[in-house]
Amino acid sequence: MRRRRAGHGDDRAEAVVSAAGRFAGQVALVTGASRGIGYGVAAALIGEGARVCITGRDPEALAASVAELGGDDVALGVAGKVDDPEHRMQAIGRVVDRFGRIDHLVNNAGINPADGGIAEIDLGLARKILEVNLLAPLAWSQLALRAGIRAHRGAIVNVGSTSGVRPVPELGMYGTSKAALAYLTKVLAIEVGPEVRVNGVAPGVVKTRFAASLYENREDEVAASYPLKRLGTPADIADAVLFLLSAQASWITGRTVEVDGGVTLR
Ligand SMILES: NC(=O)c1ccc[n+]([C@@H]2O[C@H](COP(=O)([O-])OP(=O)(O)OC[C@H]3O[C@@H](n4cnc5c(N)ncnc54)[C@H](OP(=O)(O)O)[C@@H]3O)[C@@H](O)[C@H]2O)c1
Repeated sequence: MRRRRAGHGDDRAEAVVSAAGRFAGQVALVTGASRGIGYGVAAALIGEGARVCITGRDPEALAASVAELGGDDVALGVAGKVDDPEHRMQAIGRVVDRFGRIDHLVNNAGINPADGGIAEIDLGLARKILEVNLLAPLAWSQLALRAGIRAHRGAIVNVGSTSGVRPVPELGMYGTSKAALAYLTKVLAIEVGPEVRVNGVAPGVVKTRFAASLYENREDEVAASYPLKRLGTPADIADAVLFLLSAQASWITGRTVEVDGGVTLR
């Protein structure tokens, strides 16, 4: 056994992992992983023995992240928009060409370009949110299934949001898309078991660029409403995603786990 730092920058105990790592020999694809939660998941997977393909729109940011993750031996970056069918085909093809297989898919990329309610939302914008946050995860899942994750008894994790668990009026369409993603997680889990498990995580506010406007300059005030009195980090979410992908979760499917410092209890 060896110890790895949990990486939260707080006083949590170090996690104990096996020497080879839970994901030794396995290959994962994480969408939207040049920074934030996706990057945290990719780094944790590599730390536990996996090789990982990461995606994102900005090729330069992606290349920098591949280098930080340990370079070409363990990471592959494929640039593109998560809702672009050609990009998806290319990414899945390149993972299999480079690493020979695909075991796991993490549908992480998501957008929220429309703060506010839905009564007056532009339908083009609403459609875009659904394309990126709901239909793209479905399409990536279909491709990963065709590429062989069934044969490897792999797993899919969808990154949702607490705004998909309980309604947040300011995040109307975004929350709607994440609620639908949790439903998709359930129906797909029924359809593709027992070979493949499909789960999700629903984060509360996590300190990334995406959520910065929700806590910048008032972090203590926002954290005060959380029973655990702090906001999340990408490592908090990565820990839960890795558990759901791992053999330790082999009897869990169709669930979206709230990883939120307890905020949805209120
Ligand atoms: N942070 C939170 O508080 C929070 C809470 C609940 C749920 N979430 C969910 O967590 C996921 C990740 O969010 P985050 O906070 O880690 O965001 P982030 O720090 O802004 O990172 C987003 C990542 O996704 C990529 N990306 C964004 N749009 C994309 C697109 N259309 N196609 C491909 N890649 C795209 C970005 O790279 P490029 O910009 O180069 O494309 C980046 O690598 C999202 O699904 C979000 O809804 C976040």
